[in-house]
Formats: sequence, structure tokens, C-alpha cells
Amino acid sequence: MKSTRCHFLGTAFLWAIVLIPPVVAETGARAWLRYSALSPQAAKNYERLPDKTVLLGDSPVLKTAQQELIQDVSQMLGKALHGVVAMPRENSIVLGTLSGLHVLAPALHPPQELNPDGYWLKTAKIHGAERLVVAGATDRGALYGVFALLSKIARGESIAGMDEVQQPYAPMRWVNQWDNLDGRIERGYGGPSIFFADGKVRSDLTRAGQYARLLASVGINGCTINNVNAAPEILEDSFIAEVSRIAEAFRPWGVQLSLSVDLSSPKVMGGLDTFDPLDPRVSEWWRKKVNEIYRQIPDFGGFVVKADSEGRLGPSTYGRTPANAANVIARALKPHGGAVFYRAFVYNHHLDWRNLKNDRAKAAYDNFHPLDGAFDDNVVIQIKNGPIDFQVREPVSPLFAGLHHTNEAIELQITQEYTGQQRQLCFLVPMWKEALDFDMRVDANATPLKDIVAGRVFHRLTGGFVGVANVGMDATWLGSPMAMANLYGFGRLAWDPNLSAEQIVDEWTRLTFGNDPLVLKTIDAMQVNSWQVYESYTGPLGAGTLTNILGNHYDPGPESSEENGWGQWHRADHEGIGMDRTVATGTGFIGQYPAGVQPLYESLARCPDNLLLFFHHVPYAYVLHSGKTVVQHIYDSHYDGADRARDFISQWQGLAGHVDEKRYGDILQRLQYQAGEAVVWRDTICAWILRLSGIPDDKGRLAPAVLKN
Ligand code: GCU
Repeated sequence: MKSTRCHFLGTAFLWAIVLIPPVVAETGARAWLRYSALSPQAAKNYERLPDKTVLLGDSPVLKTAQQELIQDVSQMLGKALHGVVAMPRENSIVLGTLSGLHVLAPALHPPQELNPDGYWLKTAKIHGAERLVVAGATDRGALYGVFALLSKIARGESIAGMDEVQQPYAPMRWVNQWDNLDGRIERGYGGPSIFFADGKVRSDLTRAGQYARLLASVGINGCTINNVNAAPEILEDSFIAEVSRIAEAFRPWGVQLSLSVDLSSPKVMGGLDTFDPLDPRVSEWWRKKVNEIYRQIPDFGGFVVKADSEGRLGPSTYGRTPANAANVIARALKPHGGAVFYRAFVYNHHLDWRNLKNDRAKAAYDNFHPLDGAFDDNVVIQIKNGPIDFQVREPVSPLFAGLHHTNEAIELQITQEYTGQQRQLCFLVPMWKEALDFDMRVDANATPLKDIVAGRVFHRLTGGFVGVANVGMDATWLGSPMAMANLYGFGRLAWDPNLSAEQIVDEWTRLTFGNDPLVLKTIDAMQVNSWQVYESYTGPLGAGTLTNILGNHYDPGPESSEENGWGQWHRADHEGIGMDRTVATGTGFIGQYPAGVQPLYESLARCPDNLLLFFHHVPYAYVLHSGKTVVQHIYDSHYDGADRARDFISQWQGLAGHVDEKRYGDILQRLQYQAGEAVVWRDTICAWILRLSGIPDDKGRLAPAVLKN
């Protein structure tokens, strides 16, 4: 009996060695592109994958696609794929563009027409053998198709009998990096810039190429490399020559480089005595500058402009409009196919806080709605998801519905400026989904925001998605392996906003940590719940983040929002809390929404609890839809949130031995730290509300001493 048991245990142990891939230390640098060896059992599903691949074309992007395929198939399946030049008689993988495929197999057509960058994965008989076809509408599409195929294999999905078309939802899928030329990154939490150091472009741009690979793997096709608070020197001819090396690192991955520019450049570095957009010398200056850029970077994407905002100079200096400013640059870019992303983040940060009618939330609409139709066709207005500034909860910006004759892009923040700065877990895809799915009721029709920004509602030429990423030199790119789910998720949503947050995170976890069911179940749930948890201890009910807005945007500091011109007011006093933005008695902000949306927010009875304090000023004893008073909700949610943050620790500990030690230890430490921070937040906000309201917690959790201080 004894020996049988031993034998059984021994066999089980052997099986474990065979089936469970080794748990080795990982830095996180490979992010979701690990492509580690599949277990022999999982690899069996791909036995029929041909071992020859034919490339139809020879562009740099197509070559990248083939190399990526060969390298990662060998890593995952231990199978050598051979690139051959002529179509072999045996089964093979055929990789190229649709036009290349047409020459080879004129009768083969995708089931629907492909948009640029779309791809088709198809198993078909061509010239008497079975072919796995990866065909893109463009070279870039073929590369995206390869990444999709590799992702399926890494996640253990079947690739038998494929016939799948994937299309990007919108043409523009860009990231912005807020990198300064000295190497620091504004609101970056993942180390210094991968592009710049000490006022120059880095000599070693290996990471820039690796970043482009990550971006391409989720369909991102553009990257703006420098801070929106742009240094004018970036436009010096000698600097453009340096920047062109970054474009070279991006090029094989189909990522277009673009630059943020300072509107006053013609004057501050260009030798003119003006930057008035209507002055012909200024337009000539931009024309020459843009020509020079394209001479050095032929596939240059365009410019991002932040003007008349937070101290940046802009067209208002000369009494001109954002349309005048955007168009003068757009006209210089037009012959080359470039675009201007003009940011709608234009507001007065010296607002008089004593005036209850003042409202920063109104600024974007007030500034841009009157200019609808005045922008050239290669201008895109880049609009932050909410009307304030990347707070943990905001309604969508009404400006999205206010521009019918102007291209738009939504700006989402991947770097967690107000949402825990990568030191706390906060998976933002559920928040972005809420925004993208929000029905703007334009002309009383169903008009989800995603369709507006994609240009579908108003039949715009272009539009799309911009994510402020701010990766850095840290091995983990964003400073934390878990935060990379936000970069991955941004790319996936920009490609297909109809994917669910659960689908996206499950893909990411499989690619980042492997397919162990316990790992998947645990990490997926932690990520999906994390935004709600973070919100519940940092400022629920739409009050905005109650963080230190004058300092680090991280610690609790609810008083810092008030009595200054920044306009991130929550208007908490001894009577109540929240900002009255109604048309009837408040700032009138709600009136900027389409008529079909206004009643949802204007009426206290309908306003959702989670945005109540964004739209209304109510007494602390006001009763929510949930049946709780506002003050009790604030106490409860902070205690509940801190408890749930603490629970993340034990959930994670359940993965000991299932995740490599390095990432296991790193993430555990972060979660322990987060649990402590959540208590600091809980106690600060609860004490503050108790002091203001004088209403005790009905569960008696707060020390009465708070009231005496
Ligand atoms: C926020 C952020 C700034 C940034 C600005 C912007 O206010 O704190 O650092 O420059 O957004 O988006 O322009």
C-alpha cells in the first residue's frame, strides 16, 4: 500500500514537471509579449501549424511581421518556422497584404471589405495545399494579423479553420508621451524618458524600438514623443535630425512619430517677432518647418498642440481663435498627409472661486463649440474624457456631442496621475468603457460616445483615440507590472471599444502571467474591481478626487481644491457638499449636454448616485437612491474600500507558487503598501467630513476626538 502511494505521488510529481511551465523570475519587461514555451499538452493543439512561411512583399513592416512570427512561434512551440521565397507545395503560412494575396489567389476574398489596418486570418486551400493566410489591408494590417495569431497561440485559443476579419474602430489610435527633453516625464511614474536624456535624444534607442513593438502588438499606430507642455527647441533643425532616429526605431513597427509643439515657436525660436497665426510670415514659417521635418521624417504623423492653457501661450495673445491657430499648422501639414491634434483642454486657471456661477467644467465647450466647422479637415480636436481632468469619476465631456462638423479624438489617461500613480491598483478599462458606451442622445438618437469619436455619427473623415501613456526606463515600463493592463487595455479598446473589460483583462492576464486557471480567476477579478475600490476610498459620489491638487495629485488633501482658481471645487462646507451645475440654480453646465441627456443630470431624482456631487450641492443628510444619507455613504464607502484594498493582499497570497517569485514579491509589496494608503485616505476623508458635517458615523467607527480638533 505504502509503496503504491509513493509511486502515485512520484508520477503526479513527474506530471507536474511536464505540465506546469517553470516559474522563473521575470522583470516584467516583456509585458504581454512574453511568448513563453507552452506546455507540451497545450502545444499539441498547434501541431498542424505549417513550418514554412511565405512573405508576399518586402517592406520593412512586412519583414518585421515575418520575423516576429518566426521568433515567437519558435519560443512558444519550439518549432522552427522557415521563411521561403516561393510558394511551397506543402502546407504553409502565407503572410502579406490583400493585394499580394490577390495575385496569388484571385478567387479568394475576405467576407467583408477591410478598412486600412484591418486584417483577415483565413485557412484556405491555395495551389493544392492548406494555407494559413494572414492578410492585411495594409502592411501594418498584416503585422497586426501576426500579433493576433500569436496572441491566440499564447492564450491557448484554437486556430483551426479560421476565417476572421478584424477592423480597427477608428483610424487614429495614438499614444502621447509627456517626456521632457531633460529626460523627466511629466506625470510619469515609470522612470525617466526612453527617448531623451540631458536635453538630447538618447544614443541608445533600443527601448524606443521595444516600445513601438508593444504598441504595434495592440494596434496603436502613432506616438507623440514629447510633453504637451512643449519645449520649443524640439523644432530646431538639428533636433529634428536627432528625433528622426526615434522615427527610425518606430518605422519597422508601423508606428508614426509625432511631436507636441509650442504655438509661440515662430517667435521664441524661429526668429520672427510674432506668432500670430494670421500673419503670412507665421504661416510661411510653419510651412518651411514642416517641409524640413518631412524631408527628415517622411512618415511623420503631425503635431499635438496645447495652447492658451495652464500658462501656455496661444492664439488669444493676438485675439485669434483655436481654429486660426490649428489651421495655420494644418495647412502646412496637409500636402504631406499630416494631422494636427488640437487639445480642447483650454481653461482659465485663475477663476474666481467666490463666484458660484464660475465653472471650469464649462470651458472646453464654451471655447470650441462656437468654432464647430471652422477647423480644416486634417485637424482633430483632442478632448479629455471628462470636463475636468482625469478624475476618478467624471461624466463625459459634453463637447463630444457639440462638434458635428469637426474631427474628434478622445484623450484617456493611461498613466495614473489621479488614480494612484501606479503605486495602487486601478485598472481603468471599466471606467473608459463607461465613457465610451455613454449614450449622448444626439438628435434624440442612440449615439454612444465611441461612435462619435470614431467619426461614425457625423460622418467625419477621421478621429479616434489618444492615450497618455508615459512609459519610462523602468523595466516594467509603467513602474508596475499590473499597471500595464491599462496600456494593453487602451490599445484593445481603441481597436475595438465593444470588447468588454472582462475580455480585455483576461487576454492580458493570460499573456502576462500564463493560463493557470487560479491565476486568471484571481488577477482578472482584482483588476476588474480595482477602479471601484480605489474610487470608494478616494472620493465617491462624483466629488472628484479629493487629493492634494496643488501638490502631488496623490495624497489625500480635500482642502486643497477650495479657495483657489484651479476650479476643481467640491464646495464642501458645514451645510453640504457638491457643486451645483444645474441649469435651474447652478452654473448651467448641464445645459451643454444634448436635450436628451440633460434631464438625467438636472433632476435630483434621476441623477445617478455616483455622480451626484459632480452635479448637485446637497446637505449631508440627503438620502441617496441607495437609501443611505450622503454622509453615511461617505463613511461606509471609505471603510469598505479600505477593507477591500486589504483583501487584495490575501487574494494575491493565494497565488504563491503560481506566479514567478520576482513579480509575486513586487506585487505583494505594492498591495501591502496600498492597503496602508487606503487607511490613510479613509481616516483623512472621514475625519474631514465629520469635522465639516458634525454628523457622526452611525456605526461608531470614528473617534469623537475628531470633532474637538
Ligand atoms: C493635468 C496635469 C498636467 C498636464 C495637463 C494637461 O493638469 O496635471 O501635468 O500638463 O493635465 O493635460 O495638459
